[in-house]
Amino acid sequence: MTIHIGAKPEDIAETVLLPGDPYRAKWAAETFLDDVTLVNEVRGMLGFTGYWKGNRVTIHGSGMGMPSLSIYANELIRDYNAQTLIRIGSCGGMQKHVDVRDVIIAMTATSLSTPSSGIFKEINFAPCADYGLLRAAVDAAQAKGTPTHVGGIYSSDVFYDERPDLNEQMVRHGILGVEMEAAELYNLAARHGRRALAVLTVSDHLLTGAALPSEDREKSFGDMVEIALAAAFT
Ligand code: HPA
Repeated sequence: MTIHIGAKPEDIAETVLLPGDPYRAKWAAETFLDDVTLVNEVRGMLGFTGYWKGNRVTIHGSGMGMPSLSIYANELIRDYNAQTLIRIGSCGGMQKHVDVRDVIIAMTATSLSTPSSGIFKEINFAPCADYGLLRAAVDAAQAKGTPTHVGGIYSSDVFYDERPDLNEQMVRHGILGVEMEAAELYNLAARHGRRALAVLTVSDHLLTGAALPSEDREKSFGDMVEIALAAAFT
């Protein structure tokens, strides 16, 4: 047990999928895994362990934003020995050629700050995905026929943005989408020698104002979960 995770050490698998929303963790575990067990519910942050095609995997909520994700990822890495951590979540599209429903696989994540900024100080560390996971995710997405983009994303500290000029710079520099967690996950994985990736569904679009209709959400999020699982166990 840790401060924020009530699971016993053996309850958590070496591979952990991290959706922001604890109820999406529940849905993904019940939809895609066999022999599912609830392993955490401290503060309502649900975590489940089960099997996908015989492979043991935990799906655990991260909460929204890097401070929240950092708590769970730190404890999963340091106390539960998680080796492969894949964020699954939604993002806002930032390029014209990126549509809602598309999947973005993040090579790297730009940020203004993260919980790791206190360590890096004057350094602009470039957090990056694990290449093997990234390649396997791209292969899985292609095999499913899911429209997929691979490139940089922006991990913002705010959802309600008072600095639209920052988004404009991201768009100008080819950033594919904005979310709020991946940069810190990649930082922690680098620090502790673990594998990390973010596989994201575009749920809304900053340039066009388009949003994923609620009836399409389940199918789109399901594609993302299957891509992440296939990447983890390739
Ligand atoms: N901003 C930040 N995070 C997000 C967004 C957004 O527009 N859409 C989905 N996650």
